[in-house]
Amino acid sequence: MDSGSDITAGRADEQALKLSMRHVLLSQDALGLVTWMWDIASNRTRWFGDLSPLVGLSPGSFSAGFREYLPFVHPDDQAMARNTMIECMKGIRPTYQQLERVVWRDGSIHWLETYGMAEFDERSGRALVMMGVVKDVTARKKTEEALAASEAELRRLNSTLEQRVAERTTELHAANAHLTESLASLNRARHDLVQSEKLASLGSLVAGISHEMNTPVGNALLVASTVREKALEFAQQVKIKVTRSALDQFFSETIEGMSVLLANLDRTVDLIRNFKQLASDQTSDQRRTFRLAAVIGEAMSAIGPTLKTRPITVHIDVPDDIEMDSYPGPLSRIVINLVNNSIIHGFEGRERGSIELSAHLRGPDAVEIVYADDGVGMNAEVVRHIFDPFFTTKLGKGGSGLGMHITYNLTTTVLGGRIQVSSKLKEGARFELLLPRVAGAALNGAD
Ligand SMILES: Nc1ncnc2c1ncn2[C@@H]1O[C@H](COP(=O)(O)OP(=O)(O)OP(=O)(O)O)[C@@H](O)[C@H]1O
Ligand SMILES: [Mg+2]
Repeated sequence: MDSGSDITAGRADEQALKLSMRHVLLSQDALGLVTWMWDIASNRTRWFGDLSPLVGLSPGSFSAGFREYLPFVHPDDQAMARNTMIECMKGIRPTYQQLERVVWRDGSIHWLETYGMAEFDERSGRALVMMGVVKDVTARKKTEEALAASEAELRRLNSTLEQRVAERTTELHAANAHLTESLASLNRARHDLVQSEKLASLGSLVAGISHEMNTPVGNALLVASTVREKALEFAQQVKIKVTRSALDQFFSETIEGMSVLLANLDRTVDLIRNFKQLASDQTSDQRRTFRLAAVIGEAMSAIGPTLKTRPITVHIDVPDDIEMDSYPGPLSRIVINLVNNSIIHGFEGRERGSIELSAHLRGPDAVEIVYADDGVGMNAEVVRHIFDPFFTTKLGKGGSGLGMHITYNLTTTVLGGRIQVSSKLKEGARFELLLPRVAGAALNGAD
């Protein structure tokens, strides 16, 4: 009975062993592992799993041992594979784990990761059994290689990028320096241009002045020499005999001549007064603090008599509390010039007209004055040239074309402000002046 139960127990052990063996093989398959066991004494190798596909052979065609496996190993890795095996068998190292390349028949290279260890006879200390595990890690290796390659490529790109950035930065610096230099030379050119424009406008001003003065002075000269001749003639005549009628004629001719002379000299004086205004600067005009409303009021009353002769309404809207530290003389001349122009040009041939003048503060430091009439207006050509010296649409009819040029100069140079005109034919004229409350101060923040 006993032996019967022994047999039963033995069978049960065998079954359990088989079961656990299958269990191990299952995990091995799942992990893609092939294992082996080499009995050194009998030189027999047992394989669990199939090595064949790992070395490029058809399934089931490799069942030999390490010696037969070795030729599949890459020539450069063969010595390592053999030495590791020997060292392990001699007990120099208890286990090993390494990567070996195998070369398939088609020449392709595959990576195997191998683990192994030896079992020793306790008494003799000699190796009885070697066992090991093989796993194909080609896919992982390829991924690693690809990763390394792309990292290298990234590093290369990075370094070329850095180089490119450095190059661009240098180029930018150069371009910047070039731009700065161009800007400087542009500024020099602009300065030169302004200088030569100033010279040119001075030249044309001088030419204009000579031209304008020529007529009255020439006339005066002509009249004066005629009167002189007449007087000399009369003096001769007196020596012989003088009649009443000759005396009358002499006096009437002389008086007429003197009147023409005076008219021409008047015109000359007028012109000279205008030219003096042109050349006026801060020093020739009195600077003081004043209320803007008061100065504008005075200017309007100065021009009042002229205004009263026509049905022109004037509406003034200047706050009482705007104080300025500036030049009241030039300011009222500007207002007078604007009103004169409205009367002479704007309302020419018009039954009636209206003028509006308003002022207000623009920020703490600037005053804006807006002057507008509802007269005939101006075409674009006139608007473009209105501030040019000697530009007039009344040539030979009393216009010298200096009024607005003087206005412009007084506004920009004496008062340190700006003036703008806007007008269209039949739509009146509008002038906007922006002046610093303190002459010479910047117009900061007023725009
Ligand atoms: N308010 C206005 N309405 C229409 N045209 C105007 C007005 N103001 C000026 N102009 C035009 O601008 C031109 C130039 O004006 P500016 O005051 O400089 O010269 P002027 O009045 O002709 O001569 P001056 O003022 O020297 O006696 C004028 O001839 C006129 O054509
Ligand atoms: Mg004028």
